[in-house]
Amino acid sequence: MSGFKPGDATAVQDLFEAIAPRYDQLNDLLSLGLHRLWKRQAIAWVAPQPGQRCLDLCCGTGDLALLLAARVRPGGQVLGLDAAAAPLAVAARRASLQPWLPLQWQQGDALATGLADGWADGAVMAYGLRNLADPAAGLAELRRVLRAGGRAAVLDFNRQQRVAAFQRLYLRRVVVPVARRAGLEQHYAYLEASLERFPTGLEQERLARAAGFSQAAHHPLAGGLMGLLQLVA
Ligand SMILES: C[S@@+](CC[C@H](N)C(=O)[O-])C[C@H]1O[C@@H](n2cnc3c(N)ncnc32)[C@H](O)[C@@H]1O
Repeated sequence: MSGFKPGDATAVQDLFEAIAPRYDQLNDLLSLGLHRLWKRQAIAWVAPQPGQRCLDLCCGTGDLALLLAARVRPGGQVLGLDAAAAPLAVAARRASLQPWLPLQWQQGDALATGLADGWADGAVMAYGLRNLADPAAGLAELRRVLRAGGRAAVLDFNRQQRVAAFQRLYLRRVVVPVARRAGLEQHYAYLEASLERFPTGLEQERLARAAGFSQAAHHPLAGGLMGLLQLVA
């Protein structure tokens, strides 16, 4: 069992501070690079346009923020927000290689961003919702910061009975042993625990409508292992 408790914001922040230097490498390895494809599918739903303001909540090392920033030029702006400093430092380093991208980084809480109502034209949250102490409150904050009609995409693992046994096997037999080699066994064992309390796709749709989204549709990706929640504010 993982020593990191899902729902404990401080423990979750500590976890991501610790794994930040290896995060991108392990992501590529453990998903065989497929996370890039799923992230592009999230961006395709949001369909960012030049001049728009977009938000990447729980941005981590900045994959989605970087993709958004390339799409909102010229004249647009992208804010990547994350609770942990270490992934943000990696994100800022990556962004410094493309200084023409309109990117800003902010350390903060996705449950209380401090942004004005309707600040964003579009928003993404990849592998973030599952880590929040209160996913319903996370969806409410996401809705609040989007303008009416703005789109959001929430990408994460999918909790579905049909794939649960395979997912468990993959997490225990592949993810945790690989992470162990990097000295991060406990950190990645947390994945299974966090998935157990994560809302299913149908529950996510219901929570999103309750949060005020006018449209919410959850789509399984990768044979049901991942899920993409497509939202319209
Ligand atoms: C699994 S990583 C995902 C990073 C990135 N979105 C990606 O897909 O590669 C989850 C991120 O959520 C951040 N996080 C967790 N709880 C948060 C919160 N309450 N507010 C903001 N960020 C949070 C963590 O620090 C971590 O960087």
